[in-house]
Amino acid sequence: MSYINQVTAQLGPYPSETLRKMRLQLEAAGKKVYDLSTGDPRIPVWPAIREKVRDSLPDISQYPSVFGSERLRQAHEAYLERRFGLKNTGLILLPTAGSKEAIFHISLSLIQRHGKDRILYPSPGYPVYRDAILFAGGIPTPMELRHEEGFLQQPWNLPAEIVRDTVAIWINYPNNPTGTCATPAYFERIAEWAQTHGIVILSDECYVDIYDTALPADQLPPSMLQITQKGTVAFYSLSKRSGLTGYRAGFIAGDPAILGPHTLARARFGVAQPDFVQEGAVVAWGDDAHVAARREIFSHRVRWMGAALQKMGIQVEIPEATFYLWCKVPATYGEDDVRFCRELAEKGGVLFSPSSWLGGGGPGWFRIACTLDDGESQGALDALAAFCK
Ligand SMILES: Cc1ncc(COP(=O)(O)O)c(C=O)c1O
Repeated sequence: MSYINQVTAQLGPYPSETLRKMRLQLEAAGKKVYDLSTGDPRIPVWPAIREKVRDSLPDISQYPSVFGSERLRQAHEAYLERRFGLKNTGLILLPTAGSKEAIFHISLSLIQRHGKDRILYPSPGYPVYRDAILFAGGIPTPMELRHEEGFLQQPWNLPAEIVRDTVAIWINYPNNPTGTCATPAYFERIAEWAQTHGIVILSDECYVDIYDTALPADQLPPSMLQITQKGTVAFYSLSKRSGLTGYRAGFIAGDPAILGPHTLARARFGVAQPDFVQEGAVVAWGDDAHVAARREIFSHRVRWMGAALQKMGIQVEIPEATFYLWCKVPATYGEDDVRFCRELAEKGGVLFSPSSWLGGGGPGWFRIACTLDDGESQGALDALAAFCK
């Protein structure tokens, strides 16, 4: 007899945990490890944020509110206005404990809307889209991101019976893992398609501030909210923007018709952002200079490492956004991205994420997260070159 339901019983290991285990095993065996597998760069937190959080630790601890403080709401609003020109929108804004939980929990309020079960999501992609749909009792419906389609989802090509049963679509631009940016015109097409079919748009925008410093001001990655707010929820995070992965701070902004009722659900989930984190988040959302400094670092790394990989004969395009490089595995490995990454880890001590562990769509690729400084990155490139010889 199993005490565990089918969804949990059938879960595989979480990819970043598997990679962490691989790193620890290699280190225990005395190997020098270059871990470029997980999107968690090691860059010191901007001191003003750290100090604000430290100074906000209370003598008496009380439950935080699911709505967050008024100061935080104003900081979210001001950010949306500065970054996207969104003003007096009437959107509901809610703090989240990072985007991950918000991505997970939204499915619980959407599956079975009008008896529909499907949520579409990009594959390869962030693994939580799929798992959340399963836990909510829905049918996860992956859409493969194809190189020949510029890694852009094309929902208008789906069969009518799939579309009829679809409640929502996840989109994620700038995209993890491919680094692809969407244009406003593409977002317009998605919005028009979704609204024609009464499908909710879930736009994961956690990399929207991590773009190449050479991009002109009028070509920055857009928000779906600039195109439409109807039936739409956008997900923002301080994890990539400010390097606060360990603080767990983000927010969602969306159509009151969705987030009004969903707030009542969130009040039950136990996901309110702690008050002292909120204080740090006010500082982080309110400042753009520390984010510009992070962009300088990532733009340099992505361009420099991308060029070095191209010289080595690895197929990779230098992305306009994110800190990821999406690379084709060497031809000798065919489409076996897992074997390539495993052998490279064992022999060269270099850890990358194979595409098969990022959702399975588009096999034969691997992702490099530009998380290490130049010295360590050079070590990884040298080890990769030696391995590929
Ligand atoms: C595409 C995407 N969405 C969401 C997240 C979750 O980020 P967090 O929960 O730290 O905000 C990540 C983390 O890597 C991600 O890559």
